[in-house]
Amino acid sequence: MIGRLNHVAIAVPDLAAASALYRDALGAKLSAPQPEPVHGVTVVFVELPNTKVELLEPLGEASPIASFLARNPSGGIHHMCFEVHDILQARDKLVSTGARVLGDGAPKIGAHGKPVLFLHPKDFNGTLIELEQA
Ligand code: CO
Repeated sequence: MIGRLNHVAIAVPDLAAASALYRDALGAKLSAPQPEPVHGVTVVFVELPNTKVELLEPLGEASPIASFLARNPSGGIHHMCFEVHDILQARDKLVSTGARVLGDGAPKIGAHGKPVLFLHPKDFNGTLIELEQA
């Protein structure tokens, strides 16, 4: 059911410092910082030949990554995103196997303008999983 690894998201306390690390030390190609107020994050896309890394910095008061950074002050892998062909079909299949979808279960429009949803990390070996309809 899942296809390409669309991205790995890393929560960072300092987006400028993290960007410099990926750009200067690792020699990666980066996007400009993109504020996503609806999602409570500012994102920099690190473009790799086969996938992306997304550096996420909290934006606003109620950022969903604030508590993660409180537990992991130097940052850490926050989630992985897999592409699916049909997000509603994927959701229904997962729910039928007992997996929990975060929020109200309805896909939201993600950072790439495509429908996404998140699966509970306790159901996936402690890893928050995002599904994106490709
Ligand atoms: Co993501």
